[in-house]
Amino acid sequence: MTRILGIETSCDETGIAIVENGRKILADIVASQTALHAQFGGVVPELASRQHIITIAELTARALEKCENKVDAVACTQGPGLMGSLLVGVNFGKAFAYARNLPFIPVHHIEGHLFAAFLEHPDNTTGTPQYPFLALVVSGGHTCLITCPEPHQYTILGTTRDDAVGECFDKVARLLGLPYPGGPAIQRAALNGDPHAFEFPRAMSKRNSLEFSYSGLKTAVLYTLRDLGNNAQENPSTLANLAASFQYAAIDILVEKTKLALTLTGFKRLVVAGGVAANQLLRSRLTNELDCPVHIPPLPLCMDNGAMIAAAAYSRLQHGFSGNLSATADSSLPLT
Ligand code: KG4
Ligand code: ZN
Repeated sequence: MTRILGIETSCDETGIAIVENGRKILADIVASQTALHAQFGGVVPELASRQHIITIAELTARALEKCENKVDAVACTQGPGLMGSLLVGVNFGKAFAYARNLPFIPVHHIEGHLFAAFLEHPDNTTGTPQYPFLALVVSGGHTCLITCPEPHQYTILGTTRDDAVGECFDKVARLLGLPYPGGPAIQRAALNGDPHAFEFPRAMSKRNSLEFSYSGLKTAVLYTLRDLGNNAQENPSTLANLAASFQYAAIDILVEKTKLALTLTGFKRLVVAGGVAANQLLRSRLTNELDCPVHIPPLPLCMDNGAMIAAAAYSRLQHGFSGNLSATADSSLPLT
């Protein structure tokens, strides 16, 4: 039995978890800073790192109560992310590992998101993913399609040339006068809207391209608002139509590119990861339209959390990695 303390502080959530054998969550605490940053319309890096410093030790103590204070290894997001925030988690984790003479396992944030699908959870109805699989990673910082033929082997097939899809949700929400984070706010606003009221463009829809681009979609919403004039977004039905049409276009790109990637690679299993995987339209379209097993983490595990980091670290230990106390935070750590 291996219990791993998982630490995630790459952005604005302090996530601390204890996971047994890479699957069973014994503790999973996420202290969200959303309220702190909402007043500024987005994450303020300096405030984020200060808040991690305030919360991290107390959250860890609370998590350790769930496992009689016994862990066998410490895992932490090494990058990518906000440098100040990463530094808090990495240095706290290294100090903890050093003091207890435990292995310290640095984890790539995207790899962590992928391992959320491996965690046991009452809402996980699709079981543990088997290799090989195709992964669609969609978050505030990433939009990419990746092949994973074997554990910890990744090939990036396509990524975004500009904004990430979650970032686009956040920016469009701002244009529409909706709160941060934009994804859940747009999903709510879209509920009573017509997804075809406005036809927004699908960038990079060229045949056989697995690259993404989201800045044009954001600009299209901006121009539409300007053409409608008179603060059109303040009219509830216009707002609902704009939100629904934007959401439809943003998600349609993801679904179509994923289908294309499955066809081009011949892979027959999909894992979806990252905060935007919480989007109901994306979840239902992928589940209903794809002719292969689709693993999407339960809603609470889509967002940044420590459990996914511990799960990834367990697999790394299983595959021969023995820990590295000299690892340092890296804000632009590459996956491959
Ligand atoms: O993975 P995550 O928690 O943090 C990063 O690693 O970036 O993802 C956060 C992103 C935000 O941009 C947020 O707006 C988006 O995920 N998001 C959503 C939804 N819930 C969160 N986007 C669309 N629909 C949602 N329901
Ligand atoms: Zn994330």
